[in-house]
Amino acid sequence: MTPTTYHRASRYLHWAMAALIFYMVFLGWTLEDKDGGLFSRYQMHKSVGFLILAFTVVRIGLRLAYKAPPEIEGPKWQMAAARAVHIGFYVLMIGLPLTGWALVSTAKVPVPTLWFGVVPIPHLPLSHDLNALFHNLHGVFAKLIFYVLIPLHVGAALMHHFIHKDDTVTRMLPGLEPKPTILKSALNYRWLLPAVIVVGAFVGATFLMRGNAPVEAPVVAEAQQSTDTSTDASANLSPETAAVTDSASTSVSQAVSEESTALRTWVVNKAASHVRFTTTFNGEAIKGGFSTYTADIVFDSAQLDKSSATVVIDLASVNSGDSMRDDSLTGSDFFGVAQHPKATFKSTGFAKTGTDKYVAKGKLTLHGQTKPFDLPFTLKITGDTALMTATTKLNRLDFGVGSGEWAATDAVPADVSLDLKVSAKAK
Ligand code: HEM
Ligand code: HEM
Repeated sequence: MTPTTYHRASRYLHWAMAALIFYMVFLGWTLEDKDGGLFSRYQMHKSVGFLILAFTVVRIGLRLAYKAPPEIEGPKWQMAAARAVHIGFYVLMIGLPLTGWALVSTAKVPVPTLWFGVVPIPHLPLSHDLNALFHNLHGVFAKLIFYVLIPLHVGAALMHHFIHKDDTVTRMLPGLEPKPTILKSALNYRWLLPAVIVVGAFVGATFLMRGNAPVEAPVVAEAQQSTDTSTDASANLSPETAAVTDSASTSVSQAVSEESTALRTWVVNKAASHVRFTTTFNGEAIKGGFSTYTADIVFDSAQLDKSSATVVIDLASVNSGDSMRDDSLTGSDFFGVAQHPKATFKSTGFAKTGTDKYVAKGKLTLHGQTKPFDLPFTLKITGDTALMTATTKLNRLDFGVGSGEWAATDAVPADVSLDLKVSAKAK
């Protein structure tokens, strides 16, 4: 029997893919926008691109398995042009994702692809020298589909619908045959499946793109402040601690004398403390932090020889405002939390370097490697409240953080800035 419409699933895929392709072209053109979402946009572009590749394979399978309706009669050149445009679409629906994949695989610093943040997709084994070729091809393919094939295709569809008034468009529309009742079509699982897939992909993609709870805004504000803390530690006070400090300032001398009498154990107030870092990815600032850590601090400025501090950070608690990037950070390319879940700083001694200024000498264990690490910090103790702030740099390569292509510093520099703030109360 000759079909009068395209296969139901082909019709759904046609419109879903048309929407995805439009989205991809616009996403491609805004990839480089410098608004802080560079990494997510790249991951989303690659993820949706691979989804389009998978849909194309399914669509070709359906096209081969089920007969398409006969070509609409018309002038020979029009029929040939329609066929050429359709074949051109299939070539580009495969060619665009493949050149994109090749271009990513041959990049100087190939960025790993995690399909929608879940499935790792390997790079193609291609020579780096081919990068420019694939880059140009990808751009030309995108322009070809957007500026040539789509206008021709849509123009022809509109012509058929409004001028020739034939059923070219109708037979590509989902859900119109064979006049199903609303109940019947709602109960038809084949009707629902493609819709669920497409909506699911969009919802999932949008959710993943949002990343984790944003840490960026507060970090920016406080990181800027903390650059000043070397000269004025009070600039870094949160409103709560500032209030405590102000009310206690009249009795500072009393507090200081109290402070020097006993070796005190300090309990960290997490709400007013943070462990953060700043780096860049292809020039774009990345600000992140760790939410889970413990600190055992016994400190007395008059008994530095007896003071000690051990800070243990749970690296899996990293939050850089982008869940896909966090997966990459905790994976084997960076922290490798499966083998090395924690970073530990253990002090071996303290030295006073100025008013309210100290250096904690110690050892930092990160990524399974233990190295000497000195942490200069500013400390204000008023009564039983202490506020420690520190900004310093750490060379990630000293600890082997960033393996494979990440060992190069083109995309991510070796030095990572650390920004620590610890507000603690004496026990
Ligand atoms: C149907 C699928 C796709 C479409 C329509 C598409 C479209 C585009 C467009 C319009 C651009 C901007 C080109 C320019 O400014 O010259 C672009 C760039 C890019 N695409 Fe795709 N793309 C697709 C699939 C993919 C896939 C699957 C990948 C990777 C796995 C990918 C990776 C890239 C990359 C890395 C760039 C940036 C190139 C640069 O550095 O300028 N694309 N894409
Ligand atoms: C990126 C966007 C699009 C792509 C890649 C695309 C691709 C295709 C392909 C390959 C076919 C051949 C049928 C098949 O084998 O599946 C087709 C048919 C069709 N497309 Fe599109 N399409 C796009 C957008 C549109 C739009 C926006 C319209 C609406 C005006 C449209 C209307 C049609 C119609 C009416 C047919 C049936 C043609 C016939 O039966 O001869 N398409 N499309």
